[in-house]
Amino acid sequence: MLFQTTAIWLLAALSTPASASATTTTSSSSLKWHWLNNPGVKPISPVGRTVTIQVPPDTDIWRPALSKHNFTAPYLYTVVPAARFQSVQVTVTAPWKTLYDQGGLVVAFPTNGHHNANLTRFIKAGIEFNDGAPALGVVATDILSDWSLSPITEQQQQQAGDKNAKATILVERDGTDAWVYVLEDGGRTRRALRQVTWAFNEDDAQGLAREIEVGIYGAKPTEEAGEGHARDGIAVTFSGFALKTV
Ligand SMILES: *[C@@H]1O[C@H](CO)[C@@H](O)[C@H](O)[C@H]1NC(C)=O
Ligand SMILES: *[C@@H]1O[C@H](CO)[C@@H](O)[C@H](O)[C@H]1NC(C)=O
Repeated sequence: MLFQTTAIWLLAALSTPASASATTTTSSSSLKWHWLNNPGVKPISPVGRTVTIQVPPDTDIWRPALSKHNFTAPYLYTVVPAARFQSVQVTVTAPWKTLYDQGGLVVAFPTNGHHNANLTRFIKAGIEFNDGAPALGVVATDILSDWSLSPITEQQQQQAGDKNAKATILVERDGTDAWVYVLEDGGRTRRALRQVTWAFNEDDAQGLAREIEVGIYGAKPTEEAGEGHARDGIAVTFSGFALKTV
């Protein structure tokens, strides 16, 4: 289940000497990683290595109605105290070709005392295929999901060195907000994609999450057409994962 390891993480965090003021890029050894929706695959840390998620079809993370909650995509995540979260970023690429093929970051905010994955708020941000092309997609889900798209610049596609669109996505805390950016020009500029005001806001009726889940996912809501291709998946590749905490 998504939340069962929270206590283990907290124990590890409490017993690890941490400097209270410095921002640190969390080392691979200090985080425990978990898979949701990827049975039989051993969790590995995406810190300092390239990770490819083999994503099956008919998967998604999307809540267009309470009765249509869907959190079926493979998600490799770790748990961090919300108070320590600064930012997370990753570079994602895949041979995107079919409507809603997607992959990127997920930051999930379980409500205190209500560890029900069906109600958990989340932000997902990355690349999503729509209108015949890969785009930058962000979904923010407080009660229900909403979705926005932004074009991928030519520059980012050139950086990939092949025809597969590639993007570097950053989710950063700013006070009670979470901001989603795409990094461009080799990381020298950041373009804002979304401001999420409820992320770390105690005024939210649902209360502040004490721990958040942070990680990478891929989803393939649409089956491939053509005889014998309905079970085709997509391999989504991640590099440069960096989680900053205080
Ligand atoms: C989740 O979405 C996928 C893709 O649309 C669909 O095939 C699957 O049945 C959905 N699962 C649930 C539990 O709604
Ligand atoms: C979440 O929703 C699914 C699909 O509706 C349901 O089968 C499951 O029992 C729900 N989980 C919880 C913890 O309510």
